[in-house]
Amino acid sequence: MGDVIDGKALSLVVKEDVKRQVAELEKCFGRKPCLAVILVGDDAASRTYVGNKLKAATYTGMDTLFIELPTNVTERVLLDKIVELNKNSAIDGILVQLPLPKNINEATIIDAVSPEKDVDGFHPKNVAGLWLEKDCIIPCTPAGIIRIIESVGCDLNGKNALVVGRSNIVGKPVAKLLMDRNATVAIAHSHTVNLGSLCRMADVLVVAVGKEGLIDGTMIKPGAVVIDVGMNRNVSGKLCGDVDFESVKPIASWITPVPGGVGPMTIAMLMNNVLHCFQLCNQKGN
Ligand code: GUN
Repeated sequence: MGDVIDGKALSLVVKEDVKRQVAELEKCFGRKPCLAVILVGDDAASRTYVGNKLKAATYTGMDTLFIELPTNVTERVLLDKIVELNKNSAIDGILVQLPLPKNINEATIIDAVSPEKDVDGFHPKNVAGLWLEKDCIIPCTPAGIIRIIESVGCDLNGKNALVVGRSNIVGKPVAKLLMDRNATVAIAHSHTVNLGSLCRMADVLVVAVGKEGLIDGTMIKPGAVVIDVGMNRNVSGKLCGDVDFESVKPIASWITPVPGGVGPMTIAMLMNNVLHCFQLCNQKGN
């Protein structure tokens, strides 16, 4: 019978550590780290995510700057705002909530954020840094997933890991982080043939697709660690993951719930990234 990983409790441990470091930085530098968050448009889910991020930052004692722009804002205006924040030495981290409205090119916006202030770790310089093992900002969800796996004492060395999903935000970076810890990693996606047999070989299974119930108990290797990154709404409007929790839990050794698993850890690791950016910005004498 699998145990449920309490992502909320673990996120609190991380946030308490960040809170302590924020207080120390304030003593040393005479100011707190500051996270700027930009929300474009009025997507309800994005507004909730942004609210949770700002709340966590305030909890850790950081300063925050919340910038709301209308759906019809031009790419130029958004770029100018980012350039202004890049130059502002009182701002340590910049987060532009995705997705952006169709008239704005996401890649252009991601490229515009200074890599030293890129708390998401989405800038090409940080992506390259991850793949070339340089000091860089690691994307929050993948970093949180690794922290969760390590928290249950799972040694990744030599383990078979399967990542289902190949997004730039989760699938690809988490595969690299698992490889860095000497796991043997496979990545499955929408064209993968016989997903079930691949899943059944996985000691560690990370699922980040966005399809309710994609993975069920018949696809799990007994004793596997199962990490569910999915955030879906079922027919009753209830939040659920990509993994069928009830059928997988008895087979797995550990499983993350949705909600209360990866989500809170993503936000906690974002707070960690603000600290990292603060250090990078101050190293450069900005
Ligand atoms: N939208 C969904 N996930 C994320 C994330 O991790 N960062 C940002 N900026 N937007 C998102």
